Amino acid sequence: MNLKGKNAIVTGAAVGLGNSYAQALAAAGVNLALCDLRPEIIDLPKRLQTYPIQCHSWQGNVADPDHVRTVVDGAKAKLGSIDILINNAGVWAGSVADDPMDKSLLDYDQVIGTNLYGEYLFGRAVIPIMIDQGSGGDIVNIATDHMVTCGTPHHCCPHNPQCPWGESPRPTGGGDNMDLYDASKWGLNGFLFAWAKALAPHGIRVNALCMGATDSHMLRGFHNFDPSPEEEASWMRAEDNARVLLELLEEGPGGRNAQNLNFCVGRPVALEPPNPHIYLNPDQIKVKVVP
Ligand SMILES: NC(=O)c1ccc[n+]([C@@H]2O[C@H](COP(=O)([O-])OP(=O)(O)OC[C@H]3O[C@@H](n4cnc5c(N)ncnc54)[C@H](O)[C@@H]3O)[C@@H](O)[C@H]2O)c1
Repeated sequence: MNLKGKNAIVTGAAVGLGNSYAQALAAAGVNLALCDLRPEIIDLPKRLQTYPIQCHSWQGNVADPDHVRTVVDGAKAKLGSIDILINNAGVWAGSVADDPMDKSLLDYDQVIGTNLYGEYLFGRAVIPIMIDQGSGGDIVNIATDHMVTCGTPHHCCPHNPQCPWGESPRPTGGGDNMDLYDASKWGLNGFLFAWAKALAPHGIRVNALCMGATDSHMLRGFHNFDPSPEEEASWMRAEDNARVLLELLEEGPGGRNAQNLNFCVGRPVALEPPNPHIYLNPDQIKVKVVP
């Protein structure tokens, strides 16, 4: 499917992966509605002026229902339709099982609020519009490799000789100080599977990108913005992830659905063949798209 002329919302587009997604979509001729907490988002349309697209942006919090309404209604009003939602905005904050209650409440609001509630709100606001349009669409939630063992279900690559961990799969989860982060991302499986099933008859696909360490503002922040050369060399590049996002979108309504796509450090960042559908049965995959 040619993406030129499609309209997309990208959340968390000011820096990091979201910024790379916005640039790649703009280069493919996709009109954009962008949002972020950071003030840089306001000037981003100006920086993307080199592409012959429409681009609008809003500054705000994805966990604020009023902001979400403003972005989604604004995108629909200015672009005419919404074909693609990239639910990318996300945060990481260290949290452990015996954290004090005060810290835990703040962490919960920030991490679950952004990573799970934010994606939920954008889904709830965009989905009725996409259904109404009757022309299909794509929702891509940005998750993490923590949620699906190494990112690849065991049945898809048992004992993959390319696995840098020496065995496949490596243990699930990001570690002891990621209980909330992992919970927020695992929660996305609920949206992935339920939305894909409910929206398949409308030609709307729902997939998730599950990447390992990818160069971004967030990842550099983990290393106090001074990673060792070895550390930096091991990271995947956000541009490569964005290229695969385009390939996923280009599959169109007949493409894969309800899938967690794995990008595992040490392996090529590539769109691998679709996994067998373990949630959608073949009847549910049939799409009815109004041309
Ligand atoms: N970089 C990685 O290694 C990696 C790995 C796995 C998953 N992810 C996921 O990828 C997504 C992007 O992360 P990144 O690494 O590019 O991070 P980043 O910090 O570089 O960029 C995230 C962007 O989201 C914005 N944002 C954060 N909270 C927000 C909120 N409440 N409302 C609006 N905007 C908000 C930030 O301001 C920032 O512009 C996240 O969902 C993250 O969990 C990243």
